[in-house]
Amino acid sequence: MDFKRELAATLAQAINADSDAGAEVDDILSAIEIPPDSQMGDYAFPCFRLAKTMRKAPQIIARELCETMELPAFIEKVDVASAYLNFTLNRKEFVREALRRLQARGADYGKSDIGGGRNVVIDYSSPNIAKNFHIGHLRTTVIGRALYNIMNFVGYKSVGINHLGDWGTQFGKLITAFVKWGSKEDVECDGIQELNRLYVLFHEEAESDSGLEDEARAWFLNMQNGDEEALSVWKWFVDVSMAEFDRIYEMLGVKFDHFTGESFYNDKMDVVVNELRAKNLLVQSEGATIVDLSSHNMPPCLILRSDGGTLYHTRDIAAALYRKRTFDFAKALYVTAMDQNLHFAQLFRVIEEMGYEWAADMTHVPYGLVSLESGKLSTRKGNVILMEELLGEAVSRTLSIIEERNPSLSDKESIARDVGIGAVIFNDLYNSRIKDVVFSWERVLSFEGESGPYVQYTHARACSVLEKAGVDDNSDLISGIDYSLLSDQASFDIVKLVYIFGDKVQESAAKLEPYVIARYLVDMAQAFNKFYHDNQILTDDAELRAARLALVYAVRVVLKSGLALLGINAPVKM
Ligand code: ARG
Repeated sequence: MDFKRELAATLAQAINADSDAGAEVDDILSAIEIPPDSQMGDYAFPCFRLAKTMRKAPQIIARELCETMELPAFIEKVDVASAYLNFTLNRKEFVREALRRLQARGADYGKSDIGGGRNVVIDYSSPNIAKNFHIGHLRTTVIGRALYNIMNFVGYKSVGINHLGDWGTQFGKLITAFVKWGSKEDVECDGIQELNRLYVLFHEEAESDSGLEDEARAWFLNMQNGDEEALSVWKWFVDVSMAEFDRIYEMLGVKFDHFTGESFYNDKMDVVVNELRAKNLLVQSEGATIVDLSSHNMPPCLILRSDGGTLYHTRDIAAALYRKRTFDFAKALYVTAMDQNLHFAQLFRVIEEMGYEWAADMTHVPYGLVSLESGKLSTRKGNVILMEELLGEAVSRTLSIIEERNPSLSDKESIARDVGIGAVIFNDLYNSRIKDVVFSWERVLSFEGESGPYVQYTHARACSVLEKAGVDDNSDLISGIDYSLLSDQASFDIVKLVYIFGDKVQESAAKLEPYVIARYLVDMAQAFNKFYHDNQILTDDAELRAARLALVYAVRVVLKSGLALLGINAPVKM
């Protein structure tokens, strides 16, 4: 049973009985609110919108509906407050239904089938080969992974793609620099750091030596023509970089279904250019070949350089066509920083100009910048914050917090990993993604504030209560309890949160905003901790104890599941 829907149906009936307003259940459903203060009631229905169709003042409509409508069993009472109807739930009924629903679904609790098994292609992380994986890349990686989990949870089939930046003229420069000034040993030893150094050196030297640019172009041309030597050096750069990226993915627990970087589209580009040409979309401009987007108030989309080389856009067009062909996606998401807004607006526009209606199914999912609380986060290697260092530091800082607070904890290292890395992930996902993130260790690792460790700690607390009570994972904690014992405000607040878990995940999926879940988890943790603080759970009163254990169990299920959606582990002890 869905209480809100049932209430909406009852309201619709009452409204339509009294007028020819033709009220629709879905409209009423979407109008039902949760009052800011639960003292006012559990659901509220504003009558303003009915005023037009019913031709009465909303206050009068509220009063009349209150008198005429028949209350369903799960509604205890209805009050009128100006133009609002405030409904108070019958707590016992509600608790029974909410907990039973959770019990029936088990680990699947909250899942839905909105996606109907259709594919969602999610392009995330996608770092550039031979460039540092920095704190900015963290965002696309963790937001993308969370969306991957969330879309699966609401019934889509997520397809995770890492569109590595592994092709382009920069590799010609890098090979030139390596051949001139590099050594195999240094690259093997220092990895991306050394590749970066060579790349910077190339640009410094090229200022006084114009021949270098020609050499670089020649190397890249060789790469494009399949020259073995050029490709083997390039491939080695890719491997060296991937080894570093893989370590970071491993730490974050991030996976991909496909590593199809830009180079993957090399042999798929001609077809795309031909198609663009056949559709009369290409024009020559200053030697380059472009799609003119001026009628859409956008700068042109560059398809071919004057030397015939392809560009970032060309490869993205090829990738979009390939993905549609291969996965027949219902949605394609691209998670990148906001500074690529124009790139994606142009891309989607070109796909549309090509006559593909599914251009409308592609969405850019942008996010804001990360800045650092100045001075507090310097690294040995200068001012770029490298992910590996940051994650390592999160773990070691967490370990020392654990040493201080709970030195006898077993398995400290693995817990410190879960908590330290979980903290960094949670911090990133806690706000609307478009907001800039200010990274502060204090906030990230706080065990009390609105943080990952706080939610994890609450989960571990719930686990330890259940363990102390000696209940095992498979026992039925819910069926036999007296539901009326959970009608006190603190318990009931928790149950209400348990009940809306699935709705919150759906909201998060619809908005493509993991923060909806992160905030929900903090609300839940706060509600639980308040309850925990004010009540004894393992009391001698067997009935009360059973009821409260059921509640603790529900909290544990939801916290664990919600954290998992965000890509965060939930240790049972902390
Ligand atoms: N490699 C790019 C970067 O680091 C991101 C690629 C995003 N995906 C895409 N299909 N363009 O900025």
